[in-house]
Amino acid sequence: MRKKILAANWKMNLTHIEAESYMHTFLGEIGEVDDVEIVMIPPFTSIPVLAQISEKAPFIRIGAQNMYWERSGAYTGEISATMLRVLFVKYVVIGHSERRMLFGETDETVNRKVHSALEAGLRPIVCVGESTTQRDNDEVETVLRRQLELGLKDLSVKDAVEIVIAYEPVWAIGTGRTATPAQAEEAHRFIRSVLSKMFGTGPAERVRIQYGGSVKPDNAQELLRRSDIDGALIGGASLDPHSFAKIIRHAEAVLH
Ligand code: PGA
Repeated sequence: MRKKILAANWKMNLTHIEAESYMHTFLGEIGEVDDVEIVMIPPFTSIPVLAQISEKAPFIRIGAQNMYWERSGAYTGEISATMLRVLFVKYVVIGHSERRMLFGETDETVNRKVHSALEAGLRPIVCVGESTTQRDNDEVETVLRRQLELGLKDLSVKDAVEIVIAYEPVWAIGTGRTATPAQAEEAHRFIRSVLSKMFGTGPAERVRIQYGGSVKPDNAQELLRRSDIDGALIGGASLDPHSFAKIIRHAEAVLH
């Protein structure tokens, strides 16, 4: 059984002061959570305060939104995997579509980051997904296959099972337009079939595939009920502690 993983991608929102009050509200609402894994992915500046607050809530993990692949050196403005690791970060988002579109990330840079993250003991959440035009042109599978084959190139099977994939169709991110559960599931199955070819069926079955793109309290349950949807990467709706808590409760409800 793959444990569902629900991640809050705050993007460039909330100061560390706001983050602290968010966490108090959020923890008060969710209580103890056993059967789903929660990952908080704030901007770098809020990582220390979140790590400290969640010491009391061991079911919460901390993630980062990005990193650089070199270990150290003259790379002004960048942050290495080891710097994150020593702050108790466990996950790192790699290749989010906003980074691909706005900051020039490519499948090759994704691949370098994935290797470097794993080497430092971080678990990458690798984002893949097609644009509107690519979907309209019937290129979904070609795009996903390329992003996976290049992004996860030269990974050992041992490393591959550490990875989480986030399927985030670009047309669904921040638009209010969610993929239907059937569309998401179809993409997830395809992703798993590519992973099977790359790493073998057993390992591919262990990789969790999250859906991301306009996940909200009112659509989370029907998405998470699908057996091939192993969680969600949530942007907008995770900025409000009440609505993120509601999504967690929906995920728990699906399991019971
Ligand atoms: P959204 O963002 O939930 O606001 O659509 C998801 C994401 O970009 O990870």
